[in-house]
Amino acid sequence: MNRASLVESAYIASAVLFIIGLKMLASARTAKRGNLVSAVAMLIAIVATLWVRGIVSYPLILAGLAIGGAIGAVAARRVEMTAMPQMVAVLNGFGGLASLLVGWAEYHRALHVLPGSAALSVPTMVSTYLAVLIGGVTFTGSLVAYAKLAEKIDGRPILFRGQKPINAALLAASLLILVVGSLAPGSTYGLFLLAVGLSFVLGILAVIPIGGADMPVVISLLNSYSGLAACAAGFIIANTVLIVAGCLVGASGLILTQIMCKAMNRSLSNVLFSGFGAAKGPQAGEGEKREVHPISAEDAYYLLESARSVVVVPGYGMAVAQAQHVVRELGDLLESKGCEVKYAIHPVAGRMPGHMNVLLAEANVSYDKLVEPGDVNPLMAAVDVVLVIGANDVVNPAAKEDPSSPIFGMPVIHADEAKACIVLKRSMASGFAGIENPLFFKENTRMLFGDAKATVAALVSQLKETE
Ligand code: TAP
Repeated sequence: MNRASLVESAYIASAVLFIIGLKMLASARTAKRGNLVSAVAMLIAIVATLWVRGIVSYPLILAGLAIGGAIGAVAARRVEMTAMPQMVAVLNGFGGLASLLVGWAEYHRALHVLPGSAALSVPTMVSTYLAVLIGGVTFTGSLVAYAKLAEKIDGRPILFRGQKPINAALLAASLLILVVGSLAPGSTYGLFLLAVGLSFVLGILAVIPIGGADMPVVISLLNSYSGLAACAAGFIIANTVLIVAGCLVGASGLILTQIMCKAMNRSLSNVLFSGFGAAKGPQAGEGEKREVHPISAEDAYYLLESARSVVVVPGYGMAVAQAQHVVRELGDLLESKGCEVKYAIHPVAGRMPGHMNVLLAEANVSYDKLVEPGDVNPLMAAVDVVLVIGANDVVNPAAKEDPSSPIFGMPVIHADEAKACIVLKRSMASGFAGIENPLFFKENTRMLFGDAKATVAALVSQLKETE
C-alpha cells in the first residue's frame, strides 16, 4: 500500500469514528466516550494529513499546535459552565475564520503562485467563494453572538428601518459576486476581497436583530454554517475527511437548531427575523398587583417532609447558583425518607442544549431519575410537591393558557398542576424571555426566596436534623 492509499484509509477510519462518536453523543450515558472517540478520529485525521508530503513546515505546525492547544486548554479549564455557550460561539467563529483563510490562501496561490492551474476551475472557485462567504458570516456572526451572551453588548435586538431589505441586498450582492467571481476567476482580486468584506458585514447585520434569549439557537445554526464552510474548504483542497466532518457538523447543527426551535414552539424564521425580545411582555410587577405566598425554608421543609412524591424542575438559576450537588443531596435525603423523587428536564432549560443533564450528571444524579416533560405532565396532578429550582420560563403556564403571551404554544412543564409547588429563586425577576410568570401567583404555589444553593442547603440541614 502506498502512502496516498494509507492516508485515504486513515481518512475513512476517522470518518467512521466521527459518525460513531456523534451517535454516542446522543445519549448522556455514552456522550463522554463519544467525545473521546471523536477526538481520536480528529487526531487520526490530523496525523494522516501531516504525513502527506507537501505540508509546509513541521516546526511551524508544531508551534501552532502548541500555542493553539495551550490557549484552548486554559480557556476550557477556566470557563464557567454558565459561560459555555459563549465559548462555543467563539470556537464556531474561529472554525468559520479558518475555512475563510483556507479559501483565501488557495485563491491567492492559484492566482499568483500557480496561475492557469486547475485551482481556478469553476467548481473549485464556487467552493472557494462558498468557504469565504459562509466562513466570514460565521466568524462575525459568532462574535456578535458571543458579545450578546457575555453581555459585552446589549442583548436586546438591535433594529433599524430598512434592516431586512439591506440584509437581503447584501445577501444578493454576495451571491452575485459568487457567480461572477466563479465564472471569471482571474478577473480581479478586488472582487474577491469585496466578498470577504461583505461576508463580515452580513454576519454582523444578520445577528444584531436577534435577541439574547435566542442566541443559543443562533449559535447552533452558526455551528452548522461553520461545518458547511469547512466542507467547502475540503472541496478546495480535495480533502475527503474535511468534507465528511464538515457535512456532519453542518447536518447535526441544523438538526439541533430544529430541536431547539421545536422545544420553544417557534419557527427558525421567527427566531431569525422576528426581533423576539425587543418589545417585552408584562414584566414581574408591571401588571396588576397580585399576591404571592413567600415561605421560609422551615415551612418548605414541612411541605417536603410529608410528601410521597416530589418532582424537581431545575433551570438556569440552578446553574448560576451551582446548586446541583446540594440538589442531589436533597433528593437522596427525601428518597431515604421513602419519597419518590424525579427530575423533570425541559429541553431548553438553562442556556444550552443538555445544560441540566450535564449539571445533574456532574452531581451523580442517576439517569433513570430524569424524566421528560411529555412523560411527567400527564401525571402531574398526582405529584405532592414540585420543586422549581431556578427555573422560570420552562414552567410558565402562560405558554398554555394565554394566547397573547410571546411564549404561547411553547411546551412547558406543568408545575402548576401539582398539589403544591415551591419556587426557589432570588426575587420576582423574570426569566430569559423577559415575561411575567403567573405560576408565582397561583394558590398552590409558595415562593422560597434566596440563592438556590443557600436555600436548598437550608432544606438539607432541616431534613438532616430530623433523621
Ligand atoms: P429562565 O427562564 O431564564 O429563569 C431562570 C431563573 O433563575 C430566573 O428567573 C432567576 O430569577 C433565577 N435565578 C438566577 N440566579 C439564581 C440563583 N442564584 N438562585 C436562584 N434562582 C436564580 O430559565 P429556564 O426556566 O431554565 O428557561 C430557559 C430560558 O432560556 C427559556 O426562555 C429558553 O427558551 C431560553 N433558551 C434556552 C436555550 C437552551 S438550549 N437551553 C436555547 C434558547 C433559549 P431571580 O433573578 O429572581 O433569582
